[in-house]
Amino acid sequence: MAVDAAPTSIDELLQHIRPAVRERSEYVVDMPEGITVKLNQNESPLGLPEDLKQELLDAYAQVEMNRYPSEQPDDLRRALAEYDGVDPDQIIVGNGSNEITYTFGLAFLDPGDPVVLPRPMFSLYEKVMRLQEADLTSVPPREDFGFDADALAAAAAETDAVLTILTTPNNPTGLALTLDEIEQVVVASSGFVVVDEAYVEFNPEGSAVELLDRHPNVLILRTLSKGFGLAGARLGYLVAHPAVVQELVKARLPFMVDRFAEQTALAVLERPALIEDRVQRIQASITNLTETLQNVNGVKVVPSQANFVIFTTPAPADVLQDRLANCGVLVRNMGGYPELEGYLRVSAGTEAENNAFLGALEKSLCEDVPDLDT
Ligand SMILES: Cc1ncc(COP(=O)(O)O)c(C=O)c1O
Repeated sequence: MAVDAAPTSIDELLQHIRPAVRERSEYVVDMPEGITVKLNQNESPLGLPEDLKQELLDAYAQVEMNRYPSEQPDDLRRALAEYDGVDPDQIIVGNGSNEITYTFGLAFLDPGDPVVLPRPMFSLYEKVMRLQEADLTSVPPREDFGFDADALAAAAAETDAVLTILTTPNNPTGLALTLDEIEQVVVASSGFVVVDEAYVEFNPEGSAVELLDRHPNVLILRTLSKGFGLAGARLGYLVAHPAVVQELVKARLPFMVDRFAEQTALAVLERPALIEDRVQRIQASITNLTETLQNVNGVKVVPSQANFVIFTTPAPADVLQDRLANCGVLVRNMGGYPELEGYLRVSAGTEAENNAFLGALEKSLCEDVPDLDT
């Protein structure tokens, strides 16, 4: 005899979703109407050159769309290994480095496992760690917003952290760690240390990839979204000890890199002079932006080793952000980070975009600041 299923309300159904998920918020990036200058996501302002686009269109035409890509894009893995002077079996390529961060959560963390996270820090890490119900130790920054390597090393040792996350240069501050500071944390850690080098191309300190030769607990995370200007293609990669790679791939979904993305990355990697030129142009842009901002009355800038810079002004950050948006310029309000209340973050743009931003800023700062009590 058929048993009638009890009617289930949507509220009852939602109870089946893990509390660790329900407590989080969706990742949303504001995109108000009328924005013509988009400087809010640390993207490259430089599109691909026309001749390269044409070449890619020809390459795309050869792509066998009816076939799955390989689980790992082997040609790209080899090309990235060559680019970094490591072996291909040290590399995992992902659908953006964000996607690999989820693999860290799946592979390393059981509920209650200790994790050390410095503040302020790219918010995705905290999200993934909380989804996995890890036990987070949050380490405050030094007064200049730089990561406190002594405190991080102590926290990693005291908590026996399974995972410690470093980002250098850090988003949202733009500040880099020295190789010695990174190694200090690595040596103090019995677990793994992620070194997220999303902005490495702009960093005068260079990469920490050499640490892998002496410390198998180092996980270097890279992206092609920033210096390479391929945020839309979704490509990131991990460089790690081959034995660690062999285990991590067991936690991964196959086919995370599609055939178009692989072709695109290969074509850009074949042009080292193009990458170098683009990085230099963005470095010149950030230098120019920083110097000009420093000369605007009342503006305080935190000099950055990345492709963005944070700054504060006499006006409340939310008011200024709205005024800039009304002028068509989108920047990011950093007020969600308690240490950075009052700060805005602006990405390095083209010369025209920087000028539009600086013009809008001067205009916005001339307007009276509203009385906050009313
Ligand atoms: C520190 C850091 N890591 C990773 C990413 C994202 O990289 P991807 O586009 O490869 O997912 C960002 C993007 O802003 C970032 O700031």
